[in-house]
Amino acid sequence: MTLIKHIPASAALLLLAVGCNNTHNSPGVEYMPDMYRSPAVEAYVDYGQDPYYFTEEKAREQRERPSARKPAEGTIPFAKDPAKAGFNMPYAYPATPEGYERAGAELKAPIGMSQEVVDQGKVIYDKFCLHCHGATGEGDGGVVTNGQYPTPPSYTGALKDLPEGKIFHSLVYGKNVAMGSHASQLNKEERWLVTRYVQYLQNGGKLQRENAVAAGN
Ligand code: HEC
Repeated sequence: MTLIKHIPASAALLLLAVGCNNTHNSPGVEYMPDMYRSPAVEAYVDYGQDPYYFTEEKAREQRERPSARKPAEGTIPFAKDPAKAGFNMPYAYPATPEGYERAGAELKAPIGMSQEVVDQGKVIYDKFCLHCHGATGEGDGGVVTNGQYPTPPSYTGALKDLPEGKIFHSLVYGKNVAMGSHASQLNKEERWLVTRYVQYLQNGGKLQRENAVAAGN
C-alpha cells in the first residue's frame, strides 16, 4: 500500500532529476518537443529545430529559409470594414511626370474635409512631416533650420495651389530627391488624412477655401 502511494512521487522526482543538466542554454528534457517548436512555417518566426539536438548548422539552414513571402502580384488586402475597402485598391497613377499631372487633374480625396479629418491628419503630420515642413508648412522644420536638410517650399507660398491629387501622388512616390516616398510608412487612408491637413495648412489653417482650387494647377 505505502509502496504504491510512493511511486508517483518518486517518478516525479526522477523526472525532475533528469529534466535538468549543467548546460544553461539547454531546455533539458522536453515532453513532446514538437509542441514547443512547431514544424509549421510561420512568418518571421525562427522555426528552426533546437540546435542543441539538431546541430547549429542544421538549425541555421532552417532559420534562413524564408518564411514570409511577398503576396502574389495583384493581391488586395482584406478590409474588414467595407467602407474602407477602396483604400486597398492599387494606386492607378504611375511614377512618371504624366502620372503626376494626371493625378493632379483627376484624383480626388475619398474623404471629406472636416475638423475631425484635419485633427487626425495633424497627428500624422506632426510625426512624419513637421521636422522638415515645419508646424505651419513654411518649410522651417528642425532638420532644415539646423542646416541638415534643403528647405521645402512653403504650403502657403509656392505650394498654395498644389491640388490634392498631386499632394497624394508625391506622398506615394516622393518628389525629386529631397522628399521621400511615404507609401511604406502611411497606408492610403493615412495619406489622405495628412493630405487634408496639408490642404488645411495651404489654406492658412482654415477648413474652407473661398475660391476652390481648379484641378490640375
Ligand atoms: C526629409 C524631409 C521631408 C519630410 C520628412 C517630408 N517632406 Fe515633404 N518635401 C520635402 C522637400 C525638400 C520637398 C520639396 C521637393 C522638391 O520639390 O524638390 C517636399 C515636398 C512636398 C510636397 C510638394 C510635392 C509636390 O508635388 O510638389 C508636399 C505636398 C509634401 N512635401 C508633403 C509632405 C508630407 C505630407 C509629409 C509627411 C507625411 C512630408 N512631406 C514629409 C521634405 C520633406
